[in-house]
Amino acid sequence: MNNAVLRSAGVNQTFLGEVVAGLGQTPKALSPKWLYDHEGSKLFEQITHLPEYYPTRTEIDLLAHIVPSLSEALADRRLLIEYGSGSSRKTRLLLGAMPNLEHYVPMDVSGEFLRGVADGLSKQFPNVQVRPLVGDFNVSLKIPAELREQSSLGFFPGSTIGNLTPAKASEFLRLRRDELGEGGELLVGVDLRKPVDVLLAAYDDSAGVTAAFNRNLLTRINRELGGDFDLQRFAHEARWNDDFGRIEMHLVSRGEQTVRIAEHCFEFADGESIHSENSHKYRIGEFKLLARASRWDVRQLWTDDKQWFGVFLLG
Ligand code: AVJ
Repeated sequence: MNNAVLRSAGVNQTFLGEVVAGLGQTPKALSPKWLYDHEGSKLFEQITHLPEYYPTRTEIDLLAHIVPSLSEALADRRLLIEYGSGSSRKTRLLLGAMPNLEHYVPMDVSGEFLRGVADGLSKQFPNVQVRPLVGDFNVSLKIPAELREQSSLGFFPGSTIGNLTPAKASEFLRLRRDELGEGGELLVGVDLRKPVDVLLAAYDDSAGVTAAFNRNLLTRINRELGGDFDLQRFAHEARWNDDFGRIEMHLVSRGEQTVRIAEHCFEFADGESIHSENSHKYRIGEFKLLARASRWDVRQLWTDDKQWFGVFLLG
């Protein structure tokens, strides 16, 4: 058996363990990272082009606008690490302004997707060594000391930080503080508070792509873990949770039903949901406090006219 096979068997074990635990608890919940198999990554990519999904467009406009004023922060950097890189579309904007960059480390949970993107980037930026890393960013990376000193930039765009609860987001920021070293900086994209109707439309689009993205989690469980979810009997729902300042995605059971996964059985009451994702929306002041509490200074902040999205440079 080769390494690749061993590794994917390991992933399935972890996936099964988390699914069994997550569906065995009340309320039922799963980590959003499982949404991103190859199909899920492609569906998310489609979401980013939807008219209702404002974050990607807004952030790309912002980044295009601020890269020139960032040139100082970018010019000397030799190492760029991107957390949850997906299509790396936004990274291309930075790479063009990083003449001394030697290494780009895109990290993502979707290995297959990541490798395709890494190949494309290597061709486009032949002077940069692209070193894709499959995994989630809850663990610290081992960065060679000579690369780390005074020269690394972390990039965490897309408001992926919003997937984490504030406590987990703080843990993430602290981990990066140590990983990126003394002179390291971190550029973070953060989705901000805005009218609830705008938020609900962004997470329940009229073309149904977000619904397909959410339901794909069930397809993945059926395929990889031998589940028997009937997709017709679970509805996609986006909810605004005002207490926690976040959008939640749920898969809501239509009627009472039992679902089998491998040798496990799970009962669903009518209307009972699987909570599949959180997307926290910060106020500017809240995020500044969070960054400071996580040992970062806020060096600069950029927002669009409507203050729908913020890009923070932490140092
Ligand atoms: C990739 C986590 C930033 O929360 O907006 C999009 C994922 N979920 N539509 C987000 C997502 C539903 C997205 N992030």
